[in-house]
Amino acid sequence: MKALIVYDSVHGNTQKVAQAVGDVIVGEVNVRRVGEVTTGDLKSVDLLIIGSPTHGGKPTPAIRGFLDGMPGPVSTVRVAVFDTRMAAGWVKVFGFAAPRIATALRSKGWSVEAPVEGFFVKGRGGPLKDGELQRAAAWGQAIAEQAS
Ligand SMILES: Cc1cc2nc3c(=O)[nH]c(=O)nc-3n(C[C@H](O)[C@H](O)[C@H](O)COP(=O)(O)O)c2cc1C
Repeated sequence: MKALIVYDSVHGNTQKVAQAVGDVIVGEVNVRRVGEVTTGDLKSVDLLIIGSPTHGGKPTPAIRGFLDGMPGPVSTVRVAVFDTRMAAGWVKVFGFAAPRIATALRSKGWSVEAPVEGFFVKGRGGPLKDGELQRAAAWGQAIAEQAS
């Protein structure tokens, strides 16, 4: 499988999740920060995974820009999404990045692999809660199996 994992990250936590997901996918896997990728890179992949920190309930501006530039569905490409987020109860009011990424993709006609997942940080700057990298690895494995 050829997989491309596109992420944004301010404090490094989403990057760690992206890497943990990438590490369990068998095949040619590229884990790239959003600024290093163009939508042209999508053409030759089987699986695209997009991950963003949650900022004010949304993906980061860079991820939003990437989504804006995404083409409509490419029949050979499966897509899955995740975010990182805080566990505090009040943040639920704003929503989270991953469902919004999924909505943006669906509005372009993409069908998004389930589950759309969120991984928890202990505070704004992290670190990730205990066990989240293991949960990310299990999620990545399940998504890769589904997509192959
Ligand atoms: C400007 C800003 C806004 C944030 N807003 C939210 C939010 O609405 N909900 C939430 O769960 N976390 C929020 N957070 C915390 C982020 O989820 C957390 O910083 C992120 O998961 C860490 O990922 P990173 O290390 O890859 O940047 C916010 C963080 C920043 C810096």
